[in-house]
This record gives sequence, structure tokens and C-alpha cells, in this order.
Amino acid sequence: MNPTNTPQRYAASNTLLDALNDALFAQGLGHAGASRRQQRLEDAVDAVAMLHRGHREDHLLSIDLRRQPIQIDGIELPAASLRAGRLRRLAEERGVATITLAARTDVGQLGIALDLLGESRPGALADDVGAWTDLHCRYGLQAVRLVSTLEPGASPNRARRDTLDELQDLASQVEDNHLAAVQGDELGLDETRSVVERAAAALEERPSELLGLAHYDDIDRFTVGHSVRVALLAMHTAGAAGFDHDRLQQVGTAALLHDIGKSLVPAHVLFKRGKLEPEEWAAMMEHPRLGAQILVAQPHIDDCVVGAAFCHHMRPDGAGYPKALMPFRPGSVSGLVRICDVFEALTAVRPYKHGMAPAEALAIMHRDPGEFDQAWLRHFARTIGPFPVGSAVELSDGSVARVVDLDVRAEDGSRAWDRPRVVLEDGRELDLAANGLRVLRPALPGAQMAAV
Ligand SMILES: [Fe+2]
Repeated sequence: MNPTNTPQRYAASNTLLDALNDALFAQGLGHAGASRRQQRLEDAVDAVAMLHRGHREDHLLSIDLRRQPIQIDGIELPAASLRAGRLRRLAEERGVATITLAARTDVGQLGIALDLLGESRPGALADDVGAWTDLHCRYGLQAVRLVSTLEPGASPNRARRDTLDELQDLASQVEDNHLAAVQGDELGLDETRSVVERAAAALEERPSELLGLAHYDDIDRFTVGHSVRVALLAMHTAGAAGFDHDRLQQVGTAALLHDIGKSLVPAHVLFKRGKLEPEEWAAMMEHPRLGAQILVAQPHIDDCVVGAAFCHHMRPDGAGYPKALMPFRPGSVSGLVRICDVFEALTAVRPYKHGMAPAEALAIMHRDPGEFDQAWLRHFARTIGPFPVGSAVELSDGSVARVVDLDVRAEDGSRAWDRPRVVLEDGRELDLAANGLRVLRPALPGAQMAAV
């Protein structure tokens, strides 16, 4: 292992990249995002200080935005890159290849650099090294430098559209739509549909890669990673149920936008670290109704997309929230989105909790038959299984592998749940039956990271 690539540095690098992207996003929220932006800039500065530890004083921390995944001092960051679509897009538009950060980087300097990268300083556009140098001087930027591509106007390497790009596009769509909703603008639904369509095609071609990447821990608090994972789960399940292209697109769009109402929940409630007070809960529970209001105002919206936003916290009999004025039963797509929403929330890794094993989450979800649409739940459980496609698993010899296909039959024709098709870290397939091996349990998060 690279001696500089310790778990602490990896975590701090992720925090830094996430904080920069989130601060840039909060900038778009204007006044509403001010305290959130300040908090994230502080997080970023703490991460910079941690990453400078052990280096000489003149070391410049380098964020390489041309790479996919983005690298900080050579450390690849697939999880944070997933959510850094805005940062990369703005950098690309402004010809910025690398951001360097000196040890004395502070909140003020970082904020100015992000303003230059964003759109809040008119005339800040630059397309060559000279123009950036002028801007650095004009704004007194010393610790933070935006470094242009060597060839003016040359765009970073966008030729390779890989799995991470698909996920990044989905995540950016969630962010863009949330931002539009906050500003009262029309959502970019055409763009959302085309991104969902590309993701559905990629999911069919490379399910284990897409679903595997979606297992990364989630440190965003704006539902971006959650919405992307719910969309992937819903499309994966609906695809396995034989949904055609149009229905798959509706399901993906509905799932991706199901939490759009959270964009109108007050920021101090949405991002509160700690337990919510009763009145804060009441504000949070408004998000399905707010989401449906945002969506119903959009031209050419599918009913099921509005329905999923309104009903994803409702049981099949209409109980739950929000309270409908008349007796009301959620539709089929809403029923599927609800299942994926709860499963994701139970199994996701968050800064404050470990993810629950899929089998355990499914067992909990099966306890109360009134809680979920039972036909969807059975189908979901069969599709996802105890060791979902894309997840890292521990084998009976202690090694770690990644599940790529569940549809493996035992000799009696039943599905061999403990012997799915798996690949090793180097991509080689391992025949579990031929080697007398079985899957024992989901791999620990650390092992999972290495295997994906
Ligand atoms: Fe929700």
C-alpha cells in the first residue's frame, strides 16, 4: 500500500471532495445555503489540515479533476467522485484541471476559489493560465490555486464513459433538480429521463458494476446518494419483472425524484445532526406533499412520478403519511419505490451507523404484511437476494469476492443462494461449486471497498 494512503487520509480526502462539492451546491442555494456552506468549508479546511500532516510546509495538496475517479494527491476517490458531478462540470467549463491547496488554506480563501469556479463572480471565466493568474491576484488568492489545463480550452478526459460517469450523471440530476425546486424553476425532466434511460441500459449490461459502486458509504445529507441507490434498486427490480423500456424509465424517474420535496424542508431541519424535535419531525413529514406539489406543476409529468413522491411513506392501505383527504391507495410504482426506499435506508452505511445486512433488512421488512405491497416485496426479495448483485461477500475460505449474478441453479433446479456467480478482486470468475466454496456472509465494509 502507498504509505501516504492510510484509511485516515482516504477518509479525509473523501471529506474534502464531498465538502467542496457540497459547498459549491450550497452556493447555488443563495441565502438559504449560507450556514450549510460555511459548515462545509470548515469541514474542507479541517480535511486539508489533516492531509498536510507529515508533509513539508511547502507541499501543495493537489485535487486532480481530470481523472475519473477524481484523485487527491494520487488517492482515487470513487465514492466522493460519484457526488462531485457539479464540481467536475464547472471545472471542465472553466478549463480548470487541478486545484492546489497549501497548508495555510482557510475558509475565506477556499470560499473565494469556489466563487471563481461557480458563477457568483461575474467575469471570473477563464480559459488559459494567464487569466487565472490575473484572477488569483485580483482576489488575493495565495493558498488556493485553480490550475488550468496546459492547452487552453482543452477539455479533461471525458471520452471514457464508464460506470462512474453513469452514476455521477444520476447524482447530478438529483442535485440539479433539487436546486431548481428551491429556486422555483422548472425541473430538467427531459434531461432526467435521458440520464435514467442511459442508466437503465447500463444496468442491463453491467448490473454488478453499477450496483456494486452504489454500495459505497453515504456521507451526503441531501439525499443524493440515497435517491441514486433507490433508483438503481427500483430499475433493477422492475427490469427483472419484465417492465418494458417506457415503464422502466417511469420507474427510474419516479424513484430518482421521490424525495424532491426535501429540497423545500428547512435546511436546519434537513441537516440537523441529532434527534429531531416534534415540530421538526412535522416539517420533515411534509416532504412527500411538497414533492408532489413541485412535480405536479411540471409539464408532461407522469402520474406515477407524482404518485411516488406523494405516497412513498404510505402503506398499501393508505396509512402512514401524508394523510390524504379521501381514502386513498398508493399505485404500483409507489409501492415499489417505498420498498426500495426502506431497504436502502436500512442497508446504507451512514457516518453514524453501519449498514444492516440485506438478509436482515429483508427479514424485518417481511414482519408486518400490511407494511408493504406483498407482491412487490416477494419479487424484490427474489431479485435482491441475501447477497445482492454488486455486493462484496466473504467466502467459506475467508476470501472476499463480488457477486455478479444470482441466477445460479443447484442440482435440484432450485436457486443456489449461497453459490452465486462471483468474481475476485482481479476480475477473475471463481466457480464456487467446483471449488467446494460457499458464500458465508456479506463482507465487512473495509473488505468491500477493496473488492469493488
Ligand atoms: Fe422520503
